[in-house]
Amino acid sequence: MRSVTKDNITETFMSYLADDTSPRTREIMGALVRHLHDFARETNLTHDEWRAGISFLESCAAIETDDRHEFVLASDVLGLSSLVDMLHSRPDATSSSVLGPFHVSGAPSLKVGGDIKRHYDGQILLAEGVIKDTNGNPISGAEIDIWQTAPNGLYSSQDVEQDMFSFHGLMTVGDDGRYAFTTVKPVEYTVPSDGPVGEILRACGRHPWRPSHLHYIVKAQGFSPLVTEVFPDDDPYLDEDTVFGVREDLVMHYEERPASDFPQGMELSGSVNEPFLHVNFDITLAGLGD
Ligand code: BEZ
Ligand code: FE
Repeated sequence: MRSVTKDNITETFMSYLADDTSPRTREIMGALVRHLHDFARETNLTHDEWRAGISFLESCAAIETDDRHEFVLASDVLGLSSLVDMLHSRPDATSSSVLGPFHVSGAPSLKVGGDIKRHYDGQILLAEGVIKDTNGNPISGAEIDIWQTAPNGLYSSQDVEQDMFSFHGLMTVGDDGRYAFTTVKPVEYTVPSDGPVGEILRACGRHPWRPSHLHYIVKAQGFSPLVTEVFPDDDPYLDEDTVFGVREDLVMHYEERPASDFPQGMELSGSVNEPFLHVNFDITLAGLGD
């Protein structure tokens, strides 16, 4: 008999794995348990602290619903979601960033030049750009799924006052690869902090704010799909996004333009009587075979 000690428990765990355990399962479980054991040894974890960790997981599970994903939120605020994104982002393409929990599938189709703000007030933003391949050629027929918060800082799925598809739209671009839409300037907002993840943030003296952003999922046949978000360079939370989503190439610049510069041919509910913001942001997709 070989007795288990605090020094050999990690190797003992590995010895319990069956010979036919897949190499990847062996690698992942081995690394996970090695880091967990090292964490407990390094911090000299007490029973109370171990219990607090288990209670955190139980509290996450207790509030998990189809609309509330507390485990994903925990991964987001710990930086794990963003780290996994960065590990698999294609270096030659636009960076990916967190999906977040507020994407709604099945958004209504939006023409190039369409309007996702509908009747909402706020400073008008005209966002446009070209969806390209890594050689700079436009990708005809690429699809861009767009969503953002309303001016009250809430996504449609969080707000009973909003229609399910407020501030959502699905656009298919033409041969020139160009997307364009009008909206109102997105606002910074807080991630849900009324659950166990909020407790962690408070215990660490952290705030729950995210810089304002537009979310995009971009897909085209023969290319790796891209889940990303873009952030204005003047946002006060740009350097302290609570979910670590900002990447250098995802920062964009809004230019203020007089109302008289608003281009013809855009679909808009209402009229432009005040200066509006304009941003051009091109998106690069990496080919599947690259
Ligand atoms: C979001 O951008 O919608 C989001 C991302 C991570 C956590 C919460 C919200
Ligand atoms: Fe968001």
